[in-house]
Amino acid sequence: MILTAKMTIYFFNSFCVFVLLFYGVDGKFRNDYEFYDQAGGWFKMHEVPATWNDAWYRCFREGAVLASPENGNLLSTMKSLVAQHTKSCGVYTGIHATFSKGDYYSIEGVPLSKIPVSWAPDEPDNFQNGEACIIMLLNGTVADVQCTDVYPYLCFKKKTKNMFMGACGTLDTEYTFDARTGSCYKFHRLPQTWPRAFAACSGEGGHLAIINSDLEAQVIKDLYAKNPDSTMPGNFVKHSSHIGHCDWDERGLWLTIHGQTLKEAGYDKWSNGEPANSTQGSTGQYCGAVHRPGTLNDVWCNLPTPFICEKAPDSLVDDE
Ligand SMILES: *[C@@H]1O[C@H](CO)[C@@H](O)[C@H](O)[C@H]1NC(C)=O
Ligand SMILES: *[C@@H]1O[C@H](CO)[C@@H](O)[C@H](O)[C@H]1NC(C)=O
Repeated sequence: MILTAKMTIYFFNSFCVFVLLFYGVDGKFRNDYEFYDQAGGWFKMHEVPATWNDAWYRCFREGAVLASPENGNLLSTMKSLVAQHTKSCGVYTGIHATFSKGDYYSIEGVPLSKIPVSWAPDEPDNFQNGEACIIMLLNGTVADVQCTDVYPYLCFKKKTKNMFMGACGTLDTEYTFDARTGSCYKFHRLPQTWPRAFAACSGEGGHLAIINSDLEAQVIKDLYAKNPDSTMPGNFVKHSSHIGHCDWDERGLWLTIHGQTLKEAGYDKWSNGEPANSTQGSTGQYCGAVHRPGTLNDVWCNLPTPFICEKAPDSLVDDE
């Protein structure tokens, strides 16, 4: 058989997915992070400015932490990364006093007094008693700002032993591969609103689950069955979990988060009587969910419920 270039690439890619699925990847982190020797870990600059809380949350969901210059090596690496980021006047660090005013710590709990930062002139000033988060300015000095201001931010992942990206191409062992669909899934038992759930799946390198066939509905049903109500203590809705369809702000229209109609996506079986409230005014249900039997539901977007993420095994790994 003569292999064309295209076929060679195809076989090569299949081989890589095969290697990933059976052997995983050791000593690496996500391909959207870059390794810095001096820092002993990986950094990612998030270009889109966010509030401190959103920045913290995004790093957390990526399996990293909002970066703090906890020692000289981290400080100099962060300084050089921040200096290149001339689009903004500063970048959020993980140093914050959001638990108790004036008590500054890094996310990992190192007190400000042990962190080798130098302050910009007249900082910190806790202006109008409203500042509890710390940014690094382009010249590497730091200042306190309001946590609701938006800045770009750096996430950091320290390199440790036994970092093994398993069959799902992530360090997150709660993702499990399902051979029936070739996708990985994670059931989040802690309830979140639909937008927060979206952000969680996205940060983890996946997306809110999209059901593309009756078979995948069965996969979701089986996954749901492994998480009975008793595994989710607390008083919240458990018979419905957020997944990846919504009305895109067009009342009564239902598309997946990837823009397909449910029919195009391959699965449009709603639970009996659903969608029930998708066209009424401000009280309507415009976000998508799945019931325990694997049938679709519409829910209030701000209702915290469990949710299901789906991830392609190769979404965070390079094909090399
Ligand atoms: C760093 O930048 C701040 C803000 O622009 C400025 O006020 C300060 O003088 C600079 N510090 C140094 C050491 O260059
Ligand atoms: C529809 O909305 C009403 C009020 O907002 C609520 O009481 C009812 O349970 C909803 N119906 C369904 C099927 O979700």
